[in-house]
Amino acid sequence: MFNRVQLIQSLMKQKNLENYLEIGVFNGHAFFKIKSKFKIAIDPEFRFDLLRKVGKTILNPYNLYNKYFQKTSDDFFKEDAPDLFSQKKIQISLIDGMHEYDFALRDAENTLNYLSNDGVIILHDCNPQTKVAAGTFEEWESNGNIGTWNGDIWKTILHLRCFRDDINVFTLDCDHGLGIVTKGKPENKLNYNLEEIHQLKYEDFNTNRKQWLNLKPAEYAYDFFNLMHL
Ligand SMILES: C[S@@+](CC[C@H](N)C(=O)[O-])C[C@H]1O[C@@H](n2cnc3c(N)ncnc32)[C@H](O)[C@@H]1O
Repeated sequence: MFNRVQLIQSLMKQKNLENYLEIGVFNGHAFFKIKSKFKIAIDPEFRFDLLRKVGKTILNPYNLYNKYFQKTSDDFFKEDAPDLFSQKKIQISLIDGMHEYDFALRDAENTLNYLSNDGVIILHDCNPQTKVAAGTFEEWESNGNIGTWNGDIWKTILHLRCFRDDINVFTLDCDHGLGIVTKGKPENKLNYNLEEIHQLKYEDFNTNRKQWLNLKPAEYAYDFFNLMHL
């Protein structure tokens, strides 16, 4: 079993993917570990100070190259992305910002506009295990932000699998569900309309999770990406 950071590091190393974008960075737990000279961090509220940045740069000198955008991902894609990605495409991206269907969908669609043909998008938190973990942000906040909150990114996966003919989407069964998006023909598609997706409840997801997420055992990543190890 592996987590998002191990998968990203293996993909970068073994598939020669360099340019990294992380949407939703929090304290940089994942971001600061990544070794790349083109690393973009987006978060309206970074949870680290200068001291942590310096410490993380001593541990991983690639952090000298980091570009930070303290804003929402929507604003980043409107204001900065066209210039920033005019020469370089995104090769690997972790989407881990606002964990709600519409937000994560915009993040995925915006990222796809700048993704290289061999690029990989990883969406975190696609496979919630309880109704509470899959609730809305408001519900989670009103419960005092206690426990795991994955949100309804599972609907984003479902949406992409219903509406896009140009990408392949599956979810690895590890680290709260790692949604994997790559360019190319879909392995298979689903057939729900927008209204249906919006109305689906956690109970529907729980009954259909394997099919809707195109859920694969974590080890599937070795075969799919032709990785020697993780
Ligand atoms: C789960 S944390 C990210 C964890 C981090 N990726 C990691 O692997 O350790 C989610 C982050 O998304 C940020 N966020 C919330 N809304 C956002 C938005 N609209 N755009 C970008 N980031 C957002 C939050 O401020 C928070 O820091």
